[in-house]
Amino acid sequence: GRGAAMVTAVALRLAAQSRAVDEVLAPLRLSRADLEKVQALMRQEMDRGLCKETNPTASVRMLPTYVTHTPDGTERGDFLALDLGGTNFRVLVVRVTEEGITMASEIYVIPATIMQGTGEALFDHILDCIIDFQMKQNLVTQMLPLGFTFSFPCQQVGLDKALLLTWTKGFSASGCVGKDVVQLLRDAAKRKQHLGMQVVALVNDTVGTMMACGYDDPKCEIGLIVGTGTNACYMEEMKNVGTVEGDQGRMCINMEWGAFGDNGCLDHLFTQFDKVVDETTINPGKQRFEKLISGMYLGEIVRQILMAMVEKQLLFKGRPCPKLQTRNIFQTKFLSTIELNGLALRQIRAILNELELDASFEDSVLMREVCQAVSLRAAQLCAAGLAAVVEKMRESRGLDQLSVTVGVDGTLYKLHPCFSDNLQKTLKDLAPKCNIGRAVQQPCSPIPGFFRPPAAQKHGDSGAH
Ligand code: GLC
Repeated sequence: GRGAAMVTAVALRLAAQSRAVDEVLAPLRLSRADLEKVQALMRQEMDRGLCKETNPTASVRMLPTYVTHTPDGTERGDFLALDLGGTNFRVLVVRVTEEGITMASEIYVIPATIMQGTGEALFDHILDCIIDFQMKQNLVTQMLPLGFTFSFPCQQVGLDKALLLTWTKGFSASGCVGKDVVQLLRDAAKRKQHLGMQVVALVNDTVGTMMACGYDDPKCEIGLIVGTGTNACYMEEMKNVGTVEGDQGRMCINMEWGAFGDNGCLDHLFTQFDKVVDETTINPGKQRFEKLISGMYLGEIVRQILMAMVEKQLLFKGRPCPKLQTRNIFQTKFLSTIELNGLALRQIRAILNELELDASFEDSVLMREVCQAVSLRAAQLCAAGLAAVVEKMRESRGLDQLSVTVGVDGTLYKLHPCFSDNLQKTLKDLAPKCNIGRAVQQPCSPIPGFFRPPAAQKHGDSGAH
């Protein structure tokens, strides 16, 4: 009868719709073979980055850090720490004693105008924050050693000398590229006549994370960040590091894997959505791997997909949705909430309505599916990169089985309900001979106690100025 015909019609429409949705999302779904290829390519770029001859053209820069060992747990002292380059700019005081590590920190805002203004203004602002922090914490009378976690690619010349290679993640302060970042900070201190600190080391956030975890776990020899950006570091055999003299022991290598694919080797994975997102950043064509994975870009990919779905009449009944035109409406927090297991669709609708997106029940289901596809792909790509790292470590150490801990930090990793599980699952699959433990930094603590206060230092690598 008519009822049956109507049911059939609705079922057909839904089936057609779901096929159309699958068609849009298909390019984001990666096969096992796709991931193995990414892993192999990452491995190839790592080798190219480590080799002196091929380093200049490698997309993964494999930067030496001059960190040759992980903490042994006997480090002591009070330190200032700066953490610049993630979601927040923080100033911390870290106290490492026999009893353990304690810290106090303050988050400061870096306005976009300063991120993209002059270098001098940026470092002046950083100093204002440090001074404010030391006042508030009653730390003005001491000269404290300071460790600078600086989450950008640097050509490290020593522990306390690091030339900025390029800005990433939306920073573009002028007059900094090619300069020693430690010196830029010391110059700002001089301008402000601030004597309360002594910069002793600069490390990438991956390195800071690895060392902070290494304080508790000697097996922690990898650092991973999945936040605003993504990157990893690990302990490499010196004999494999062609870009630094010497063959003894190990050195931590800051991979700068966010730039993986900048030579075009990942182009086959880029969907039309990824391409648009890349083109609208301040560094098009750069940090290609990062742009598929990290928090700064995932929301934008989701937004591009949703706009395409509106156009195909799959979402919001095809009604135009001006709010979707707004850049960066979907932050990491949004992606994380919408995928929360068991979060009722009613709640998702409420979240969407708050963003002035007039979503029906079906729209909410679809939005969740889109977010899942994008974040799953990110976790799998990250796992493929990590698989290349652990397999290389296992190989260079001549082991049948490698057991290692990864220190992890970053807002996406920490906030997202399934990212870490998806990462772990894929990693196990791609690197079955490696046994990988995870230690999540909670809260983020850059380099507690690794760099001994100058007085206790043996080799004069404190850079006293
Ligand atoms: C970007 C930076 C890198 C940093 C990562 C995570 O990729 O270039 O240095 O480690 O973001 O913050």
